[in-house]
Formats: sequence, C-alpha cells, structure tokens
Amino acid sequence: MRKPILAGNWKMNKTRDEIIHFSLFVTNRIPDSVECIVCAPYIYLRDLVKRSPDHLHVGAQNMHEKDFGAYTGEISPLMLKDTGVEYVILGHSERREYFNETDEKINLKIKKALELDLKPILCVGEKLDVREAGKTNELLESQITKDFEGVVIDDPKNIIIAYEPIWAIGTGKSADADTAEAACGFIRKVLEKIYSKDISEQIRILYGGSVSLSNIEELMKKPDIDGGLVGGASLEPESFVQLCQKAI
Ligand code: PGA
Repeated sequence: MRKPILAGNWKMNKTRDEIIHFSLFVTNRIPDSVECIVCAPYIYLRDLVKRSPDHLHVGAQNMHEKDFGAYTGEISPLMLKDTGVEYVILGHSERREYFNETDEKINLKIKKALELDLKPILCVGEKLDVREAGKTNELLESQITKDFEGVVIDDPKNIIIAYEPIWAIGTGKSADADTAEAACGFIRKVLEKIYSKDISEQIRILYGGSVSLSNIEELMKKPDIDGGLVGGASLEPESFVQLCQKAI
C-alpha cells in the first residue's frame, strides 16, 4: 500500500503573514492518512517547519547540487537540511525551461538529496508538441533514465515522481484521468525496467497540472496515481485542506 500524497507547490508566491495564517488554518484540519506537503520559497522554510504541526510536511522547490561554493544566489542542500525540511522538488518544468536545468544536473541533485536524506520529488513531463507527435512515452523514458542514472535506491518510499505535462500546468486544462493514469503507469514500467518490480511498486507517482477540487477525486481513483502535485489550487488554505481530504 502506497500512502497518498498531496503536495502543494507554492512557486514564487505568498508573504510571511500568509504563510503563518496558512499553517495555523491547516493544523487540525488535514488528515493523517495523507502525506500533506507544502513546498515553499526558501526564506519561509524555517518558519514553516517551526510553526507547522508534525503531519504538515515541508519541502523546498529546488536546491544546488554542491554543498558549498562560489555560486552567488544559490542555496546549498546543507542549508536546506539546516531549515529542517524533508522534501525537495527537483527538475520542475519551470526550472528546466527558465533556468536551463538539464537532466544531467537534475541527476546530480537527486544523488545529493538522497545522500543527505532529503526526499526528492522529481518532476517529468512533456510539452504539447511532443504529445501531439505521439512521443510522450519516449520523452518520459529518456527523462527518467537520465535523471536516475547511477542512483541507488535504498528506500523507495523516499522517492516521489510527479508526472506533470507542461501543457496542463497553470492552464486550467488538466490531463484527463485516463491520460494521466497511462503516463503514470508507463513511468512505473520504466522504473521496473531500471530497478525492479518491487521497487517500482513502492515509489509514489503523483500527477500535476491544473489539479483542482473538481478533478482530484477522479485522479485518485486511478491505481497508478498516488497523489497530486498542486500549484494554484494549493495556495489558499481552505482549498489545500479540501484537496488533502479528497486525496485519501
Ligand atoms: P498548477 O501547477 O497546479 O498550477 O497547474 C502545478 C505545478 O506546476 O506543479
């Protein structure tokens, strides 16, 4: 049995006051049976970790792959550890697109995160032209294979993958549940090929891209979808709580 996950990706949103309000609001409202995670901007992580109830887990949205160095403006994984976060989103399509993150770099980040006991939430997914050309599976297989090159998985429960088709992110046009399930099922097959059936069946695979209160239940019914990575609809505490309640 894979425990369901509802992870909010706040991106570059929220003020400190809003974060404090969020944390107070969700305490006692989010269910224990779902792993509820919020991935916040770096400067709020420490505050969130300190103020949040134990069952609200906190994650970062990115990290550098090196411990320290002359990388102005970057955040080291050791600094993330200092904040007390458990998770880190890696390879989000916005990082790949706007910050030129390659699979090679993402691979180094996954290795570093696991070395430091940070749980990676790896994002993969295709652009619309790739889907229209019928090359979605090819792209997913290439991303997963490169991102996990040489990655040793000791505890598959600590690895999370989010299938996020780029055409569905922030557009209000979610992939329908069957399309999302087909991609998540394919990702599990690729993981089985690289690792083993046992490992692939323990890794949680999320769907992301315009997840909302109106489609989360449909998506969660699918056997290979273990949760959601949610941007816009995770920002308001009321909506986050309801998403978590529906992700059971
Ligand atoms: P969205 O974003 O839910 O606003 O589409 C999802 C994401 O980018 O992780």
